[in-house]
Amino acid sequence: MSDQNIPATPAKAWSGRFDEPVSDLVKRYTASVFFDRRMAFQDICGSLAHAKMLARQGIIAGDDYAAIEAGMAQIRGEIERGEFAWNLDDEDVHLNIEKRLTALVGDAGKRLHTGRSRNDQVATDIRLWLRDEIDAIIALLKAYQNALVNLAEQHADTAMPGFTHLQVAQPVTFGHHLMAYCEMAQRDVERLTDCRKRVNRLPLGAAALAGTSYPIDREFVAAELGFSGVCGNSLDAVSDRDFAIEFTAAASLIMTHISRFSEELILWMSPRVGFIDLADRFCTGSSIMPQKKNPDVPELARGKTGRVNGHLIGLLTLMKGQPLAYNKDNQEDKEPLFDTVDTVSDTLRIFADMVTGIRVKPDAMAAALKQGFATATDLADYLVKKGLPFRDAHEAVALAVKAAVGRGCDLPEFTLDELKVAMVEVPRALPLLDTDVAGVLTVAGSLASRNHVGGTAPEQVRAAAARFRAILGN
Ligand code: ARG
Repeated sequence: MSDQNIPATPAKAWSGRFDEPVSDLVKRYTASVFFDRRMAFQDICGSLAHAKMLARQGIIAGDDYAAIEAGMAQIRGEIERGEFAWNLDDEDVHLNIEKRLTALVGDAGKRLHTGRSRNDQVATDIRLWLRDEIDAIIALLKAYQNALVNLAEQHADTAMPGFTHLQVAQPVTFGHHLMAYCEMAQRDVERLTDCRKRVNRLPLGAAALAGTSYPIDREFVAAELGFSGVCGNSLDAVSDRDFAIEFTAAASLIMTHISRFSEELILWMSPRVGFIDLADRFCTGSSIMPQKKNPDVPELARGKTGRVNGHLIGLLTLMKGQPLAYNKDNQEDKEPLFDTVDTVSDTLRIFADMVTGIRVKPDAMAAALKQGFATATDLADYLVKKGLPFRDAHEAVALAVKAAVGRGCDLPEFTLDELKVAMVEVPRALPLLDTDVAGVLTVAGSLASRNHVGGTAPEQVRAAAARFRAILGN
């Protein structure tokens, strides 16, 4: 339990129905105000919309609503100024605010909870809170994408080895590699946008679980709060947290993408690879080894991915055994959700900045390309285009690679005659080899030839960047 500064007053029974107060330990165990006060402004907004509706429907008097409005304005100011006296005895954010309201405006404050329960209240608060956070995270994803697109455009022509099995496979451009992460982030944006639709439904009106006997107007409250509609079943409305689980699943994927990128940044920055350097402000040194510059930020992001994945499993497990409708278990949804939002937001904010500060080392990338026979597939394709069946071409080039390994050289270093000698066991290949083969063995030729949507040709990388500029609106 975090914030031990929140005071508790002397023990008192929960209500007139109880004979004895809860123990201090139970009070702390069941309270959530330590953390759910983070939703204080959403709680106030929800209450105001509810009170306005009650007044419009004639369930409370107009004067009561005016008093509630004035009291809430006062409370909002107190919270903003850090003056609000949070009290552990009042268990959660909802009761703390309601109690203060009653202290400020008397009976009108006591009327606020008419036709409502904390069960539909808390479900509304979380949805309001998460909706804003989703919008903020989408904006952060876009800033991160923007940084990727900028760097990708600068490196649309920068050749690097593309890997499969972490072995040099074929040349790609660094820009193409970065745009892969931009695509992933775009799916993350789409997932969040879709998840937001299900977050954006109003639970209020469900009351404790069965609805309420007052003549409420749920559509009015929904419109007041910017919800696109109301939850269709009261039992589901108060107990559903799958919107939070879905969000956390989307967040886990964001972090998983970031973690994959992190792994590459760490690898690329290793002196054994040396493809990039990260700006000093994202790295730390070692307390013992003066030469070290460690990529702490990507390492931590990779580590924090485990934490968010853990929250997803935590929330799924929280929900799996719950019968309808509300159960106190649900109070445990907030900390993982808050921490997920904080972790993802901080990570994206840092990554947008870090990507901008990546220093690329094209020479190291070019040197690595020379070591892995990266244009071997291009040589096979060359033979195929001249009529050799692909399997034979594959074998002929395998022989050439074997010869190059034996000689300790790369394929472009062979003369035409040397290539023919190397491939002599595939006689059908020999007459097809001509002086134009030199062109296909170059990295630039290999890159330029993959000139279709989704390919690595510099022209396509620039086109992909332009597509994203349009999507991102810049
Ligand atoms: N603090 C509670 C939560 O986070 C609010 C709802 C409590 N409702 C109840 N009937 N105990 O879920």
